[in-house]
Formats: sequence, structure tokens, C-alpha cells
Amino acid sequence: MKSVTFKVASAVLVFLALIPGAVLAKDSIVLGFSQVGAESEWRTANTQSIKEAATQEGITLKFSDAQQKQENQIKAIRSFIAQRVNVIAFSPVVETGWEPVLREAKAARIPVILTDRAVSVKDESLWLSFLGSDFVEEGRRAAKWLVGYAPIQELAAKGEVNIVELQGTVGSAPAIDRKKGFEEVLKDQPKFKIIRSQTGDFTRAKGKEVMEAFLKAEGKKINVLYAHNDDMAIGAIQAIEEAGLKPGKDVIIVSIDAVKGAFEAMIAGKLNCTVECNPQLGPQLMRLVKDVVAGKQVPRRIVTQESVFPQESAAREFPNRKY
Ligand code: AHR
Repeated sequence: MKSVTFKVASAVLVFLALIPGAVLAKDSIVLGFSQVGAESEWRTANTQSIKEAATQEGITLKFSDAQQKQENQIKAIRSFIAQRVNVIAFSPVVETGWEPVLREAKAARIPVILTDRAVSVKDESLWLSFLGSDFVEEGRRAAKWLVGYAPIQELAAKGEVNIVELQGTVGSAPAIDRKKGFEEVLKDQPKFKIIRSQTGDFTRAKGKEVMEAFLKAEGKKINVLYAHNDDMAIGAIQAIEEAGLKPGKDVIIVSIDAVKGAFEAMIAGKLNCTVECNPQLGPQLMRLVKDVVAGKQVPRRIVTQESVFPQESAAREFPNRKY
């Protein structure tokens, strides 16, 4: 009798192990996570948050760094499918080109959660939930701050305000949306002109390089730098100083993320404003993963709550910053 019971129990276990999404014990959830890379201070904080939250929640994390390449993310997702993880989560480097691999995940009945960045796919059933910031709103916030900034209002009263823009990675959701939100606010401001706009790929090195080119082409004509992230702004600050100009004074700078590096630059008077984009998505992601595995209904979209930090608030806020 004992041996019959044992055989039945073993058969059930083998059967469960063959079903994707089936979880044998409370703490055996396996999450496959494909990260964009390590391009910025924001990304490092995001990775840390995900790893720490997985450990805290007892979730087994299979983490893969794509080094900013879509093909690496596709490979990682395929490997998660082959390993029959319970849930796949990823932060897509670019918006398009995901249909084939997401169809494979769907066919394997592995739920997919998007974190931080969105995808653009016709079949919206290819992903279950999207957790992250509203990037269009971040772009709007940057522009609204700029339009309301007293020294810029004085400049606009006399003539045109010339803006150069450092865009994020070409084709990525934050680059597309932050541009869109910024331009949406400026379309009603005829004095504000974007005279140059180029990608700096969200990195300090590229931000510096592209700003050098902007300065070479436009020189002192540049009044404002709008950078899609703080790292590019920090790289550009170096270029501005090397050109003999004062960042934060000769060139007004607004960027996005609100990482510690931006607060240090603001305290030094070299950056004028940073719009927050919260990278600490780990705890919310792990809660989502648990709910998905438990078969609960999860929200389709979870938007992160964020603020705007002008230079005047930097010294006061700095001690409270977690990333
Ligand atoms: O997707 C979020 C963006 O990606 C952050 O603003 C940027 O710093 C990162 O590289």
C-alpha cells in the first residue's frame, strides 16, 4: 500500500514539473528576468532593486544582462522558455520586434510581465502586465519646469530660447515618449526651439561626445540642454566645462531620473532640475509575480509615482535619496 501511495505521489510530482507555471512549493517560483544592460546609474539601481527583492521574497531569479542588445534579450527569453520558468519579466531595450519570441512564450504558457519599458505589438495578449513610469509625463514635466523657470522666462521675453536635446537609445520607449511629452508642452511656446537633437544612448560617454558636437556646431547659441537621462546630462556637463562655459548658468540643464549623481551636480550648481523616474521596481515586481503564479487577476498597467526636483530642493532632498 505504502509503495502504491509513493508511486502515485511521485507521478503527480513529475506531472506537475512538466506543466509550465505549476509551482510545487510556496518558495519555488522561478522568475526569468532579462535586463537592458548597465548603461546608467538608474539601471544599476534597478538591477539592485530586482535582485534584492527576489532574495527577500524567496523567488529564484534567473537574471540576464543584454548589454543594450535586443538579440541578447531574445536569446535570454528563449532560454527562459527552454528552462520552463514560471514567469518571464523583461525591460525591453527597444519597443518593436518582439512578436516572434513573445508568441513562443505564449505557446509555452509562460506569462510575461513588462517592467520599466513598453513594447509595441499588435497582439496585446502577448504580455500580461506592465509596471513602470509614464515617460510621456516625464517629458511634459521637464518642459513645464523649463517654461516656468524665471531666468528662461526672462530670456524668452527678449528673444528665442535655443534648446539642444540628448535623446535616449534610438527606438526605446523612454526616448520616444520623453521627446513626445517635451514637444507636446513646447508646441504652444513659439519662442522655444529645439535646434539640435541626437541620441546619446543613455550613457555618460555618449552624452559628452554628442554635447561636444553640439557645442562645436552651435557654441554660445545654446541656452538649454534637455537630456533624456541624468547620465547623459552629467557627461554633457563635462563637455560644457571643457568648452569654457558654466553648466547650470550659461547652459540651463534639465534631465530625467533623479539619481544621486544628479543631486550632486545640482548641489554644485551645474544642473538645474531633474525629473524623477523611480528604478526601485523590485518589490512591486515580485508581488506581481507571486499574484500571477497564484492565478490572481493582476492590473494591466501599474504606473510609478514620481516627483520633480529643482536645484533649490537638492541639498534638502539629497539625504533622503535611496538611489
Ligand atoms: O528606461 C529607463 C531609462 O533607462 C532611464 O531613464 C535611463 O537612465 C535608463 O538607461
